[in-house]
Amino acid sequence: MRVTVLPRGRVRGDARVPGDKSISHRWLILAATGEGRSEIRDLPRALDVRSTAKVLAALSGESARAELEGWASEPGPVADGDRSTGNGPEPPPRTLAVEARGRGALQAPDAPLDCGNSGTTMRLVAGVLAACPFEAVMVGDPSLSSRPMERIAEPLRAMGARVRTTGGHAPVTIAGGRLRGTLHRCPVPSAQVKSAVLLAGLAAEGETTVVEPAATRDHTERALAALGAPLRSRERSVTVSAFAYPGFDGRVPGDVSSAAFLVAAAALTGGELAIRDVGLNPTRTRFLSVLERMGVPTRAEVSRLELGEPVGDLVVGACDGLRGTFVPGDELPLVIDEVPVLALLAAHADGQTRFAGAGELRVKESDRLAGPAGAIRALGGHAAVEGEDLVVAGGGLEGGRASSGGDHRMAMAIAVGALGAHGAVEIEGMEAAEVSFPGFVRVLAGLGARIEP
Ligand code: S3P
Repeated sequence: MRVTVLPRGRVRGDARVPGDKSISHRWLILAATGEGRSEIRDLPRALDVRSTAKVLAALSGESARAELEGWASEPGPVADGDRSTGNGPEPPPRTLAVEARGRGALQAPDAPLDCGNSGTTMRLVAGVLAACPFEAVMVGDPSLSSRPMERIAEPLRAMGARVRTTGGHAPVTIAGGRLRGTLHRCPVPSAQVKSAVLLAGLAAEGETTVVEPAATRDHTERALAALGAPLRSRERSVTVSAFAYPGFDGRVPGDVSSAAFLVAAAALTGGELAIRDVGLNPTRTRFLSVLERMGVPTRAEVSRLELGEPVGDLVVGACDGLRGTFVPGDELPLVIDEVPVLALLAAHADGQTRFAGAGELRVKESDRLAGPAGAIRALGGHAAVEGEDLVVAGGGLEGGRASSGGDHRMAMAIAVGALGAHGAVEIEGMEAAEVSFPGFVRVLAGLGARIEP
């Protein structure tokens, strides 16, 4: 669906964003495979999170199944039929309450498990299935079916699971069973791979250690530590051993990666903005340092912990001009989901911005090296892919037409970049935003952006 963004809007005020997608996947998995009752508040109605709930429902016993399925199929802006703008009324969040009986109570699914567009669903659930004594097949949409899956298959095989990919991709078939601990050195930094191996390690004999080449988001480790798991974290390595986790209560913090789009929108239009109740885990807020280098004043104020996750307010001060910056390869895993919006912002900066060693972006929901470069050029700016680097020239955007290519973060990044363009920008495929940020267009327009269906 198409929207048009008009120039001269100013994004400012007070905002909230839907719950964190990464944290939601993990808490849902832990709730559905834990021992006892869990209550999760403020779960976002993002399509990816619904995918995890549906997959877990298909593996669960009767009572947990009904609750998970019920939550996943409740109407949201998309199901209400307003895919175009997310302008449908947002139903109030409902607490999800799951009564689960541990991983041993999971059942063989009747049909292939549909992970939709969600790489986190497929990779993390694979870690659970590796220890289940039955066979299950996981499938996904065309984008997910083109993403690499051997990176999880290989360590899970080393632990004793039988895992078959389809030429390295989904469908992925897993016949699980008794696992032994492993030492896995991840060749690429990936929180999804780390989490899949740790989830398998919680049901394995002996210790499981994951060593990463660079730090990645640590939501799995934080939740497990808060639940009392025998977990040891050192700088680049995490070790777990067998542990049956109890039920828990938690309120999902706002998604700081969704907040990043609003922060960038305010920065680009010179507005002041506060985002309340957002997750402020330092493995997710690195984009604030990049913005700081670009000239955007921000402040993060932690006020509480939720299952080990720092939560608080994020405040953006008025920005009076953006400068280009350099994002080195070792910083990249910590801003991996923010690169599209940082790139569109960089197109308006004074001077060049380079994202170095960013090859991993090629295997995201879409090719996020080529995507931002193409969108910037389509809107009259200058950007190029040089080897593994994304290079954005700066100097501003004219306007025109660009497409999300079906990628939620590309859709939102283009909408933000469009706010600073000289002319109108028509965006094709805006509905993709619902994958992680239901109601994005409504929220952005409510803060002062000029967006027309
Ligand atoms: C995620 C990890 C990252 C990120 C994705 C969510 C997670 O992927 O890009 O949006 O929840 O663990 P990789 O682990 O593949 O880098």
